[in-house]
Amino acid sequence: MLVFRDISTLQNHLRNLKNNNKIIGFVPTMGALHKGHLSLVNKSISQNDSTVVSIFINPTQFNNVDDLKTYPSDINKDLELLRSISDKIIVFNPESDELYSGDIKPDQFNFNELDRYMEGEFRGNHFAGVATVVSKLFSLIKADYAYFGEKDFQQLRIIENLIKEKKFKIKLIRCETIRSEDGLALSSRNNKLNFSSKKIATNLFKALNFAKEKIDVLCIDEIQQKISDNLSNFKEIELEYFVVADEKNLKPIKHKQAEKCRAFIAAYISGIRLIDNLKLY
Ligand code: PAF
Repeated sequence: MLVFRDISTLQNHLRNLKNNNKIIGFVPTMGALHKGHLSLVNKSISQNDSTVVSIFINPTQFNNVDDLKTYPSDINKDLELLRSISDKIIVFNPESDELYSGDIKPDQFNFNELDRYMEGEFRGNHFAGVATVVSKLFSLIKADYAYFGEKDFQQLRIIENLIKEKKFKIKLIRCETIRSEDGLALSSRNNKLNFSSKKIATNLFKALNFAKEKIDVLCIDEIQQKISDNLSNFKEIELEYFVVADEKNLKPIKHKQAEKCRAFIAAYISGIRLIDNLKLY
């Protein structure tokens, strides 16, 4: 398996592939790979001639220094996992100064209000940081397809918008959220939870399912209130938001509408922040 740490050797290799008309799939990650990431990689492998996986903990998308410092990371384990899928995967694992020359700060973007609520509201410049690094990676890798998980649905919509606005010649492939048997959405942050916190965290998925069951019979305010009351019974859970929003423009809605919508939730479980979402209809 080829592992590149610098841009120029990666680009030389990719140029050769492009010259041979190879179709390239790209899976951006911050490492600490789990089955969710691996499903994106497998999908890319099945749909492309070559797959590039980037592993880079992007400093500009963290709005909290401690969160960045404690973000799980194990590059040897990640490489082992990728190798076990296919030794043809191309890994890009740069140092920070390879991607950020000079100041490590995010660029400015207009996300057409997609960043106004939910993660955008609670995580400061998070999406500017994500868009900065994803733009850099799209520009240098020039893949044909990029694979993003619906687990981070707001991020996925923001990247779809970025592709359109910046006219990147890449198509985003939406990939469904991978869950453990008890419903917990797979996330690198789950590594920070102990066994009992993981069990408690499944209440987030239960809350989303409750919203799906009740969307035809209760108004959204009532659903929100019942979820908040129920989660307050768990001392380990601190709910940050539960929002029902339009799937396209991500604006919170108060009444059931004709257009597709999703329920979104963010909460701290024993101090670890998790997010999840579910399509309601
Ligand atoms: O979803 C992630 O892991 C990150 O936000 C991404 C897209 C790799 C950018 O750093």
